[in-house]
Amino acid sequence: MKIAVAGTGYVGLVTGVCLAEYGHSVTCVDIDENKISLMQSGISPIYEPGLQDLMKKNMAKLLFTSNYVEAYHNADVIFIGVGTPEKPDGSADLQYVYGVAEQIANSVKNDCVIVVKSTVPIGTNDKIQELIESNLKHDVKVSVASNPEFLSQGSAVKDTLHSSRIVIGVEDKSAGEILKQVYEEFNAPILVTNRKSAEMIKYASNDFLALKISFINEIANLCEIIGADIEDVAHGMGFDGRIGNKFLNAGIGYGGSCFPKDTKALHWLANFHDYELRTVKAAIDVNENQKLKLYKKSRRYFDSLKGLTVAVLGLTFKPGTDDLREAPTLVNIPLMIEDGAIVKAWDPVGIENFQKLYSDDITYSTSIEETLREADVCFIFTEWDEVKQVDLSIFNLVMKTPIVLDGRNCFNIHEVKKHKIVYDSIGRETVNTLEMTFV
Ligand code: UDX
Repeated sequence: MKIAVAGTGYVGLVTGVCLAEYGHSVTCVDIDENKISLMQSGISPIYEPGLQDLMKKNMAKLLFTSNYVEAYHNADVIFIGVGTPEKPDGSADLQYVYGVAEQIANSVKNDCVIVVKSTVPIGTNDKIQELIESNLKHDVKVSVASNPEFLSQGSAVKDTLHSSRIVIGVEDKSAGEILKQVYEEFNAPILVTNRKSAEMIKYASNDFLALKISFINEIANLCEIIGADIEDVAHGMGFDGRIGNKFLNAGIGYGGSCFPKDTKALHWLANFHDYELRTVKAAIDVNENQKLKLYKKSRRYFDSLKGLTVAVLGLTFKPGTDDLREAPTLVNIPLMIEDGAIVKAWDPVGIENFQKLYSDDITYSTSIEETLREADVCFIFTEWDEVKQVDLSIFNLVMKTPIVLDGRNCFNIHEVKKHKIVYDSIGRETVNTLEMTFV
């Protein structure tokens, strides 16, 4: 089978490389020629654990090109893995998906299955089918299938090679059979349904997870008020198999390329059909507030951050990625700068991307110790292992005042209490072994 993949972002490139790992020959297409030449020399343009090695290992089965006609004209299966960013009104921007659909319609010369991996609003696959059929240049049969992607950034390769499930949405049985063959080696449960249900499975899954996070964050906020401990609460809840013990980590809210976008897109879609998705709306609202939680907490210790040296540990929306999309730092750091704070930031892989946004106002370092030195306060935004494994005495040793605001509950509260520190985390008691007084 000849396979082409449109788009070489997180979804497209990981899909292409993993399909090659399971024996397929894959042509990856992207309009960005710089990215293509990088990949042609075996270099992954994105940071994703294991991707670079897997790509190198399978280079003989991978072709990279910006010439879409070459890639699509005789393909049997074409995956679409291009972005569907959020529009200002919260709906999904489908211009890239439709753009690829038109290119496919212009190029294909034999029957093929078009597999939509990009997260698209319910009903979009039907529109793609119509769009391609009405623009075909040759007399061929094209079948559009929805095949949503469930990978997480930071574990994208692992998630794809060992998928929890493969969801295939088709209106035509033979397309489903072809896709089953493509995924034969993946050894994962395969669910075949219709296109709209497959599209909905993706949104409902992501929105449910976002809801779970916003729920635990609200419970954490209440724990702080009433003096309960969110870690113990989540642990206790997680024993119930119906709840499950995953995705119950309280923090400063979800970021990334999926949850913020997919919650808003489904809410928008429901509104469009005159239905209000109230639970999803609540998840969105809670998250917006939660992102500012650390900044608001800083007001307990300082009237303003003006003139203070603020150490920021972690810039990315989660560990294991250099992605900054919807990261809480994007709303917090500008507020700090606006206040007149001197911001020093540490991140193992996210600095380069952050520098593109804030080049002058921030000092960057790849050393945690350097970042903390002489700081008045430390904000932790990402639970990188390097942060979690830090020797807790460092805060008192190198900071001017060891006030640590931890948005990801990186440390065991009992361990923290052994040190001279002010430690304020999410949904847990505040530790103040220095017995400092604040206004
Ligand atoms: C997510 C989904 O997990 C994945 O299935 C989907 O395909 C794309 O969206 P991703 O955005 O890569 O993946 O990251 P994920 O690990 O799910 O985390 C998303 C955000 O939620 C991060 O900001 C993370 O810090 C936050 N989160 C996650 C919490 O705050 N608490 C948790 O318990 C889990």
